[in-house]
Amino acid sequence: MVDIHTHILPKLDDGASSLEESLEMCAAAAESGVKTIAATPHFYDVTATHAFLEKREERLALLKNALKAADLSVEIRAGAEVAMRPELYTNRDQLKRLTLGETRYLLAEMPFSPISMQDVFDYVELIFDQGLIPVIAHPERYAYFQENYDIPNLLLEKGAVLQVTAQSLLGAFGPKPMKLAQAMLRADAIDCLASDAHEAYGRRGADLFAIRDLLFAQGIPESLLFRMMEETPGQIIADADISDRQIGYILPPKRFGR
Ligand SMILES: [Fe+2]
Repeated sequence: MVDIHTHILPKLDDGASSLEESLEMCAAAAESGVKTIAATPHFYDVTATHAFLEKREERLALLKNALKAADLSVEIRAGAEVAMRPELYTNRDQLKRLTLGETRYLLAEMPFSPISMQDVFDYVELIFDQGLIPVIAHPERYAYFQENYDIPNLLLEKGAVLQVTAQSLLGAFGPKPMKLAQAMLRADAIDCLASDAHEAYGRRGADLFAIRDLLFAQGIPESLLFRMMEETPGQIIADADISDRQIGYILPPKRFGR
């Protein structure tokens, strides 16, 4: 499997709090069948890109050395989870430096506090303007997406990629993210599932296979799990063009008794 969203680098954000914890997360991922991991620390301050990248390279080197010493074979690619903020409008050229493993794909986190549908599309256009493709991190978790399925539907139509957190499908983030994630799944509108790991095991764990197994037990076909957890994230990390994929249309759940 390929995991394109993790907080696996040590002491950079609210993810791994030590090198030991990073290693533990890598071991959990590797044992569960993850071959490639994108390390995507939170990125907030676009005026301090250089300092962020320097620190990221240092922590990445540290982790790679530790993986070698521990004889753990898992490939780590550098990336970032870029928070969409108004300052990006005057620093848009920085986005190219923050993509997933030097591909054209940028993992973009929308604000959790409500913004308008137009603001969402403006942010996405900002990314396209730079010749990049937005991968929207956990669309199912934003309240304004949950309330208006036009937003994720139009994002797909515009060419954005939607990355759902695997645990959302199981209710780990509450009923509302689960409802949207399941509606997306029914519509075949999830491009990829990722862990968004902040720890080795548990609600925000890196052991993707445990979740894959639970989803399979719930009746999600193996071929679909393969596409969401291996094929499409693999294409993204290989910088392949996925614009000709089938795109589903998300419908709200049917209401009974009306
Ligand atoms: Fe994240």
